[in-house]
Amino acid sequence: MEIIDGKKLSQSIKDEIKESVAQLKAEGKNIPHLAAILIGSDPASESYVRSKVRSCDYVGFESTLIRKDDSITEAELLDIVRELNENDDVDGFIVQLPLPKHIDEVKVTLAIDPKKDVDGFHPVNFGRMAQGLPCYLPATPYGILQMLDRYNIETSGKHVVVVGRSNIVGTPMSILLSRKAKVGNATVTLTHSRTKDLTAELLRADIVIAAIGIPEFISGDQIKEGAVIIDVGINRVEDESRKAGYRLVGDVEWDSVSPKASYITPVPGGVGPMTVTSLLMNTLKASAKEIYG
Ligand code: GUN
Repeated sequence: MEIIDGKKLSQSIKDEIKESVAQLKAEGKNIPHLAAILIGSDPASESYVRSKVRSCDYVGFESTLIRKDDSITEAELLDIVRELNENDDVDGFIVQLPLPKHIDEVKVTLAIDPKKDVDGFHPVNFGRMAQGLPCYLPATPYGILQMLDRYNIETSGKHVVVVGRSNIVGTPMSILLSRKAKVGNATVTLTHSRTKDLTAELLRADIVIAAIGIPEFISGDQIKEGAVIIDVGINRVEDESRKAGYRLVGDVEWDSVSPKASYITPVPGGVGPMTVTSLLMNTLKASAKEIYG
């Protein structure tokens, strides 16, 4: 079993980006600028946004964090989105999800200019992705593609089982891996809460993408010997023995699944760090006007 080290891989990609930024600076070109909107004080969201801002600092990007209270109205948030759409200094921006219940996430996502949608959540980017056109890929699936590519894991002709059909992970992942592409050409089964016999599906999988958000949902007896396991789950479970009072676990049960796997991503230190790297890569593309000119 080999561990796919997302922390190490994301560090080496960040170092590559840092070099590109140094080159841009040396040539007197624009430095990429990412803005993030964070509403409220959800601890997980705060931690993700902190990590995004820290990563921008590391690679030499400019970053702007716009923090607003939970009490912000939808109209006020839409105004901020419009300002960022029109601000030529900002190459790309994200609205950290989830949003408070009184704000319609779809409406906010639709308000983002697809040219600045470095999260790849806007239906224009999603549609372009589905048709294999240049676009911003959503961060988590993009990070997983990078992992599979850089670890030389063959996907062509393989049977991939994706668990979970979210708009930001499961569904785009299933589309990307079935596309005719270097990391792609797989036969993909997208499973979800109504799947009749998940275990039977999983036992056929050469590659499992677990993105259901339920702690340790998949166990070793559901996994074929030698399967590749990509665990997207970042679940907090109570743990009094930890200083923080919780620990992070994935969607697969590490102790029973890892002995059967040929490759597996740990939690933490697997897919998580790669999502930030993807966001930086998209922002670099936005700054270079690589996708939309
Ligand atoms: N919430 C969980 N994942 C993400 C992400 O990739 N982007 C944003 N904006 N919010 C998230």
